[in-house]
Amino acid sequence: MKKERDWSGLHFGVDYYPEHWPRERWETDVALMQEMGIQVVRMGEFSWHKMEPREGEYDFAWLDEAVSLLGRYGISVILGTPTAAPPAWLVNKYPEILPMDRQGRRRGFGGRHHDCQSNPVYRRYVEALVTAMASHFAENPNVAGWQTDNELGNSHGDLCMCPSCRRSFQGWLEKKYGTVEALNQAWGTAFWSQEYNSFEEVFTPLVTVTGENPSAMLDWKCFCSDLVVEFQQVQIDIIRRICPRHFITHNCMGFADKVNYFDLTRPLDFASHDQYPGGYYGKMPFEDNVRMAANLDMTRSFKGQSFWIMEQQSGMTGWQIMGRSPVPGQLAAWAAQSVAHGADCVVFFRWRSCCIGTEQYWHGILPHSGRPGRRYQELKDMIGKLSPHMDALWGSIPRAQAGIVFSYRQEYAIQIQPQHPDLNYVTQLLKYYGELHKRSIPVDFVEDTGELSRYPLVIAPLQYLMTNALAEKYFSYVREGGTLVLTMRTGVKDEHNICMSDRELPGVLGDLCGIEIPDYDCLRDVNVKVSFAGEKEDGEFFAEKWSDIITLLGAEALASYEEEFYAGAPCITRNTYGKGVVYYIGTEPSQKLLEAVMNRVLADAGVSGIGSADEGVELNIRQKGQKKWIFAINHTNQEARYQISDGAECKLVSGEKEGLLQPFEIHLYQKE
Ligand code: GLA
Ligand code: GLA
Repeated sequence: MKKERDWSGLHFGVDYYPEHWPRERWETDVALMQEMGIQVVRMGEFSWHKMEPREGEYDFAWLDEAVSLLGRYGISVILGTPTAAPPAWLVNKYPEILPMDRQGRRRGFGGRHHDCQSNPVYRRYVEALVTAMASHFAENPNVAGWQTDNELGNSHGDLCMCPSCRRSFQGWLEKKYGTVEALNQAWGTAFWSQEYNSFEEVFTPLVTVTGENPSAMLDWKCFCSDLVVEFQQVQIDIIRRICPRHFITHNCMGFADKVNYFDLTRPLDFASHDQYPGGYYGKMPFEDNVRMAANLDMTRSFKGQSFWIMEQQSGMTGWQIMGRSPVPGQLAAWAAQSVAHGADCVVFFRWRSCCIGTEQYWHGILPHSGRPGRRYQELKDMIGKLSPHMDALWGSIPRAQAGIVFSYRQEYAIQIQPQHPDLNYVTQLLKYYGELHKRSIPVDFVEDTGELSRYPLVIAPLQYLMTNALAEKYFSYVREGGTLVLTMRTGVKDEHNICMSDRELPGVLGDLCGIEIPDYDCLRDVNVKVSFAGEKEDGEFFAEKWSDIITLLGAEALASYEEEFYAGAPCITRNTYGKGVVYYIGTEPSQKLLEAVMNRVLADAGVSGIGSADEGVELNIRQKGQKKWIFAINHTNQEARYQISDGAECKLVSGEKEGLLQPFEIHLYQKE
């Protein structure tokens, strides 16, 4: 019997679907897994029909057999609740559980996630199945924990607009606003005759003839997130009650936006993430390592703790078309990257390339033939190298030097009105993230309700929706000595997504920044030349997408526009306030300009990286108490060099030659 809720010894796993393969093959697979160093298998998340072939008739015998076979080889199991794919008998009996899209059309059976998560009938069937499954496996010694559903929010992009969701939305609004007058006020329904006489009159946002109410859309997006959180909570309550020994997690998707992952992961033991660095159908990777690194830092940030990878790319990706093949060494480097950012366990998707169904070309560790090939060998070698360190690494995370504020509400508001057609919230944040990442500075993403004071540097791009409470938080962070970066489109709207009018931009934060912005310009198909005080004019300093035309009220101008009717006006400013410093960046700076500003910002914050490295090499740190581990990973197919700042105190515990990496090589250092 395992210790109470102890999963600290599980470090490498695979996603396995015994129901896709003949019974005679199972043991061959399990033996190969064991040989490779696999300690845990996730399964079950799509097999509702196998578990309940007809209403109320449960069959877990096949799953028992698979679980006990794995147990005989010392491999633990994570069970996915199979609510990601309701069966045909259920959909035929209650067609109203099919979700409705923005066109008002019901989506059909035949994919997955064809469910309306608010439908009360559907909820009853989910509850019954999860209860039966949890009861059946509660005492099984080989079951370590649970994954709720699968990638909640995936496939639900513009779903669901059905009558049940409409009723739920109305209830959500009534709870939030109390009276319909308050709703009308908050949504500004006086515009275009959108007033409601009661909550029952409110619609789901089906496609309209023209435009949308931005305030209504913001509430709708927040409602959808809450609905998914609630849908998951129903399952969590059941599993917690019946299986108190087991952990519960969920496989999130980095910067996917449908659900607020801070909320979704709050009731979980730890967060998990699905990591596909090759992109679903993408070009040859190397380019997107910044986003991949950010995915991992984001996942760690959800709960401020180490996490799992529940699906780590294990081969070429593809459904109807395919992505490029990861080159030798690359899968191992990607998996190590996950560990370097704080993954305690990496589960590969999937064990073997499937011969049936939609995902026949989403390649597994084993090819279709089932014969171990180069991917098996490569990942086995990587597991062999990292395994001896994984127990010690467990639970360690970096002490991040910088926090980037992440808010789903800000993201939703920018999605609803991007203002500049190419303005994207996450992309904007990743520009700043990239500057820190390339300097090997550990970064957290932090909720705007989170604790800022633990970071010497806080970057808060696009603080578009502003409340007094949030503004006060920024004031007090800087007053107490923090270095804060604010950007264009800050303080524009109130919490209901309505433009504020009591002062010039950036509203009350103008007092913190020592500026006022009486005018601005949206840079459509044009960049504006900028000069940066003290920096050599090299023709690569530009304002992109946006110009805030700033008036100084105490701040100093670091950069100014050189063109347009506002030539000479400040574009980037710096102000001291209390014991701290605040930068206001009134544009999206071109790459070189951003680099130059960030050099100043980092000097003010007294923040520096853990080392320096050639392009394509990542340096990461994990810490626990006084112990530190430093990872150096080469994401390129060339030899590459790096240097660790306090390298003298670090001991190379995995890898060949200090400071020199072979293509895709991974080095690990330890410091006591
Ligand atoms: C996601 C899902 C998996 C699988 C892969 C590949 O990560 O969670 O079930 O569908 O994508 O498409
Ligand atoms: C048209 C309409 C106005 C307003 C403007 C701006 O002119 O008549 O009501 O909508 O466009 O969109």
